[in-house]
Amino acid sequence: MSDRSAVAVAWSTDGLTIGYRSPLQLGLRLGDYVAVDGVGDGEPRLAQLLSQRSVERDGRLWVEGSGQLLGHGASGAPFDRSAMAAAGVDLIRGLLGRGGSGLELGHLQRAPELPATIDAKGFNRHTFMCGQSGSGKTYALGGLLEQLVLRTRLPLLVLDPNGDHVGLGRTRPDVEPDLAARYAAAATAVRVLRADPAEGEEALRVRFRDLGTAGAAALLQLDPLDDRREYNALIHTLATGPEQGFASVEAAIESFRTSDDAVLDQIVMRAENLGIDRMSAWAGLSGTPVRAVGDVWRRDQPRALVADTSGFERRRERIMVAVAVLEQLWADRHHRQPLLLVVDEAHDVCPADPANPLERLAVDLFTRIAGEGRKYGIYLLLASQRPDKLPDNVLTQCDNLLLMRVNSAGDRASLADRFAFVPPELVELSATFGLGETLRAGRISPNPQLARTGPRLTPEGGADIPTDWADWAD
Ligand SMILES: Nc1ncnc2c1ncn2[C@@H]1O[C@H](COP(=O)(O)OP(=O)(O)O)[C@@H](O)[C@H]1O
Ligand SMILES: [Mg+2]
Repeated sequence: MSDRSAVAVAWSTDGLTIGYRSPLQLGLRLGDYVAVDGVGDGEPRLAQLLSQRSVERDGRLWVEGSGQLLGHGASGAPFDRSAMAAAGVDLIRGLLGRGGSGLELGHLQRAPELPATIDAKGFNRHTFMCGQSGSGKTYALGGLLEQLVLRTRLPLLVLDPNGDHVGLGRTRPDVEPDLAARYAAAATAVRVLRADPAEGEEALRVRFRDLGTAGAAALLQLDPLDDRREYNALIHTLATGPEQGFASVEAAIESFRTSDDAVLDQIVMRAENLGIDRMSAWAGLSGTPVRAVGDVWRRDQPRALVADTSGFERRRERIMVAVAVLEQLWADRHHRQPLLLVVDEAHDVCPADPANPLERLAVDLFTRIAGEGRKYGIYLLLASQRPDKLPDNVLTQCDNLLLMRVNSAGDRASLADRFAFVPPELVELSATFGLGETLRAGRISPNPQLARTGPRLTPEGGADIPTDWADWAD
């Protein structure tokens, strides 16, 4: 077959990958699925195009590059040039998305008739979801949480800084009744705790002692050496405090105040000066004691727990909740109960450049779970706008990538570098993604998948700022 014949051809030297060349006018694009003729009347092989450049040859324009054979096509048997064409829907359907633990999340970009399926078992690894603001991360994350609720038994703990996921327990009115009923049955034990609960809603609270000594000290800005007397007093007081004591910071402060220990008095002053006694995140601060988030998680074992921190006035309260949750998950790690810790806007509580002791502690705890959590069944799903906003030690532990639109060339290069299992040209393609378009790769999708997120089952919580200011005044 010569170049002049103007047909697309593919060949393979290893039976796993292909080289290909196609006339430009056939319109085969990077990421497309193609069918490569089999030997004799053998079945066509399915492949995906993973790199592409254009060349001029014999006065004609061609695209050429490499790709990956999929399914039974990846037999390991090399083959010489065979005719290649865009793959039909049946071939793609037959070879992709098989297996028992598939989650349907929207449809394939390059075969919109087909659902896009990822492997739920792949969430036994850490996952990074990246996309610039407005690329559709939170919407897609919500859709993923719905599927995990509906089709798996993996418990979910969601740190939700914008209150976007507070609707996870209920369906939209336009959802088809059968599906709505199935979802309702799966979501009965979804709990939503809110920083700022309305009547009938549950409060999101932490106890002083949930932070651990390191957390309490970080909050009080106590340095173990510079403030050794106060730090030491704190260690001993927390270690010997009554088991039920210090449920609230009020109780702790009261007990410090009434002790004869002048050092504890210093701690009280510190707490008051830093406004720690007035933070609204404490369990039992006023009125009836409220259960702490850790107790709800441990005792009630909810199907999913959404911790909506959006109502806290200060960032340190959101970080405190993260610290309390991470400390507890780590303390319980020997139960080896698998769970997915989902953090939207993860840079808020796990910043690449922590600015104070509490942020540094949160980063340390995330880093520990990123490094060692997996062997105890603690899996992370972190969403953020840019790779450089998260600590490298956390990011490089992620084996799954959910990529949405990324405008910045520097960010795309950084992603391609850190997620070397994703073909770099597909990472580059994210610059062209529209709203809801996504690339999924890693354990959840061993073949990199270009998809578009589908309609949601549950309502989105946080509303965009209304744009009625753009309406013309009459
Ligand atoms: N697949 C989609 N279909 C329809 N609307 C979407 C889709 N994805 C996102 N949106 C809408 O676009 C806006 C931005 O999406 P969002 O998920 O908040 O982006 P991000 O979290 O990346 O900033 C939201 O109003 C959301 O409802
Ligand atoms: Mg968002």
